[in-house]
Amino acid sequence: MTAAKKLLNSPYFFWALLSLPSIQMIVALVGDGGGSRGPAHEILEWAGVLATLLLIIALGLSPLQAIFPKSRVVAWLLQRRRYIGVAVFSYSLVHLAFYLVDLGSLRAVLDELTAPVILTGWVAFFIFIPMAVTSNAVMTRAMGWRRWKMLQRGVYPAAVLVMAHWLIVELEPGPVIFFALLGALELCRLWLTLSNRKSGHELRQPTEA
Ligand code: HEM
Repeated sequence: MTAAKKLLNSPYFFWALLSLPSIQMIVALVGDGGGSRGPAHEILEWAGVLATLLLIIALGLSPLQAIFPKSRVVAWLLQRRRYIGVAVFSYSLVHLAFYLVDLGSLRAVLDELTAPVILTGWVAFFIFIPMAVTSNAVMTRAMGWRRWKMLQRGVYPAAVLVMAHWLIVELEPGPVIFFALLGALELCRLWLTLSNRKSGHELRQPTEA
């Protein structure tokens, strides 16, 4: 195996890739990159956006594989989708931690708990917890593939909540475009599944690490 192939296959390399965007948070924390609302708020925003973009990537991989079944990049990413899921949870955790720091008191947290923008975030986060806890091979084996897969389907309602959360914070073209792209990919997959069923072919199930 060549050195480049070894590097690409190394989980450490993939973890390093996933952690790269956190450099921006360290810069905000140690430098004066906090903008007018302070570093805690800057990190809160950046971690939220990162978690959401990674969530969209993780969800977009299955439709992409259906559309481009021969793509090696998509296959490579699909094999590492669990790691992407763990990164979604980790960045959500950072987002939550800096939200708590930003607010500064339990009273303030409880006061705004039921506001739709906050509630959607909390519910999505609580859906992510069991998915993150069971994202290792030992738990998958212990639960059995079918039950594990059913639990993982919670990602779809969580994604809808995250979409609502982001759109309530800012109704801007950026978030709308990202979620519209994901919706378009899912529609393509549905169309391919239905037309393949008609012609007697089943779509290949994605394989993961
Ligand atoms: C755990 C409960 C959560 C709370 C309390 C929470 C709280 C917040 C708050 C207060 C903001 C507004 C920041 C601002 O004023 O600009 C925000 C923005 C955001 N949140 Fe959350 N959030 C939570 C969970 C999540 C999760 C699970 C995700 C994604 C996986 C997420 C993604 C985002 C995004 C993308 C933004 C917009 C960032 C921006 O302004 O650019 N949040 N969140």
